[in-house]
Amino acid sequence: MPNQIEILTDRAAIIARALTLVVDAYEDAIAHHGQFAIAVAGGSTPRPLYEVLAGQPLDWKKVHVFWGDERYVPVSDPQSNEGMTRKVWLNLVPIPPENIHPMPTDELDPAVAAQKYDRHLQEFFGIEPGVFPKFDLILLGIGDDGHTASLFPGTAALNVSDRLITLGQKDSQPRLTFTARLINQAEKIVFLVEGAAKANAIGAIMAESGDSSKYPARLIRGNVTWLLDRAAARGVAPE
Ligand code: 6PG
Repeated sequence: MPNQIEILTDRAAIIARALTLVVDAYEDAIAHHGQFAIAVAGGSTPRPLYEVLAGQPLDWKKVHVFWGDERYVPVSDPQSNEGMTRKVWLNLVPIPPENIHPMPTDELDPAVAAQKYDRHLQEFFGIEPGVFPKFDLILLGIGDDGHTASLFPGTAALNVSDRLITLGQKDSQPRLTFTARLINQAEKIVFLVEGAAKANAIGAIMAESGDSSKYPARLIRGNVTWLLDRAAARGVAPE
């Protein structure tokens, strides 16, 4: 269950607070092990955060960017999380190309792509199969239906715990996604949630008991900070 809920006045306040948390996590990671491995969320909420990160004086050669999930489309597709992140952030900073780790979406079979990214993480973290690496920071959002990353309600991905990356499914669209078990290893997890449309899901996710197959974000636990605006927080703190 979440161990830190912060209710902010609006989306701008969420982004400002998220920036502080990202920079703090970056500084801790560099101090402790000389590099910062972040997995970013897709969707629209975090976009302004990526825009402000583009202006931060970080030591970009020590920053490694991964995606917690990806729509199974080419990077040129407007739906691509990688495409959006590169456009508003990564194309604007001197980060070495090899420090950008996109999920592959060019395999005919998405399941092969998932295995490929799984192996890529094992190589990057220098781990054996079966070991789950610790990202320094994972950014997440939730959908109105309570999904997070591409862990959608009632899908097989929710029950996968023997690998790092699996196949998600949004309606008929294949996705690649971190498994909940990989997410939960992270040093720090930050959710950015904005808008009244998410209040019901927030209420169900934060409830003492509930069905995580209906609200998959309930699967996420560990060092978790939820950044909610007042509208989304109505699900937990009715005004
Ligand atoms: C994606 C995301 C997804 C997103 C939520 C919220 O690929 O869409 O990773 O999990 O975080 O759907 O999206 P919004 O921020 O657009 O509401």
